[in-house]
Amino acid sequence: MSQDTTEQVLDAVGRPLPAFPVPATLPSHGPARVIAMCNQKGGVGKTTTTINLAAALAEYGRRVLIVDFDPQGAASVGLGISPHELDRTVYNLLMERDADIHQIVRSTAVPGLDLLPANIDLSAAEVQLVGEVARESVLSRVLRPVADDYDVIFIDCQPSLGLLTVNALTASHGVLIPLECEFFALRGVALLIETIEKVRDRLNPRLEVDGILATMYDSRTLHAREVVARVHEAFGDTLLHTVIGRTVKFPDATVAAEPITQYAPSHAGAEAYRQLARELVARGDAA
Ligand SMILES: Nc1ncnc2c1ncn2[C@@H]1O[C@H](COP(=O)(O)OP(=O)(O)OP(=O)(O)O)[C@@H](O)[C@H]1O
Ligand SMILES: [Mg+2]
Repeated sequence: MSQDTTEQVLDAVGRPLPAFPVPATLPSHGPARVIAMCNQKGGVGKTTTTINLAAALAEYGRRVLIVDFDPQGAASVGLGISPHELDRTVYNLLMERDADIHQIVRSTAVPGLDLLPANIDLSAAEVQLVGEVARESVLSRVLRPVADDYDVIFIDCQPSLGLLTVNALTASHGVLIPLECEFFALRGVALLIETIEKVRDRLNPRLEVDGILATMYDSRTLHAREVVARVHEAFGDTLLHTVIGRTVKFPDATVAAEPITQYAPSHAGAEAYRQLARELVARGDAA
C-alpha cells in the first residue's frame, strides 16, 4: 500500500549521494594515515579544509595532528596560536636533528586535535634543505616518532610545488586537492597531478590521490555547477560527493580562531565538513 516516496538525494553533479554512516568508535589509536592538503593555487580552501576536516574527525573521536607547513602560519593562526610568539616550530624539527617533536607539538582548544605549528622561519627551510642528504624525505623522518599517536595527520601545504610541498607528498599516504569553484579552477591541476605522479614514482610508491574537493560552491550560480560538472568529466569519482558551500561563516570562524564545528556547530558549513569526514572514513581514506 504505502509506497516509498523518499527521493534519492543527489550530489552536485547528479550522482546519488550515499548516506555516509557516523564512524564507529575506535578501540585504539594509530598508526596515522598522513594526508597532504595540496594545491599550488592560492586561496582555494586548503587551510580552511585542514582545520575544519581535522576538527570534524576529532569530534568523531579520532586523534588528529595538523602539520602547518606554510610559512604564513595560517593553520596555526586559525587555531588560535600567534606565530610570532612561537619559539620553536616545524622549522626547528626540519633543521635540527636532535629537536624533539613531542616538545613542539601543542594541543588545541579542540579535544583530540594537536598542532605542529609554523611561522615565517619556515620560508628559510626551502633553501636550507637543498643541500641536505635525502632532502625530500626530511618531513617524513620528522613525523615518524608520532605516527602511532594519531589516526590521521594532515599537512597543510603552502601554495607552491617547491621542495616543502615535495616533502609533504613524500611523507603522505594520500593527497586531498581542494578546488575553488571558479572558472580557472582546473588550471594547474594537471601540473599538480604530474608532480604527485613523479613523487610516487621516485620517492613514495604508496602515495595516492584521495580526492578532489569542490570548495566555495554556490549552488545558485550556473557557473559553479558548470565548474563541478567539468571537474567530474575530467576526474570522475576522484571528485568527492561532498562539496563545501561558500559562506562568510568560514572567514568569520578564522577571525575567531576556531574551527567552524565549534564557532557555529549547527551551521551548514560545519555539517559539510562533518559529512566530508564521514565520506573519507567510508572511502577508507581515514580511520
Ligand atoms: N567555503 C568557503 N566559503 C567562503 N570563504 C571561504 C571558504 N573556504 C575558505 N574561504 C576563505 O577563503 C580564503 C582562502 O581560504 P584558505 O586560506 O583556506 O585557502 P588556502 O588554499 O589555504 O590559501 P593559501 O594558498 O594562501 O594557503 C580565506 O579567507 C577563507 O576564510
Ligand atoms: Mg593555506
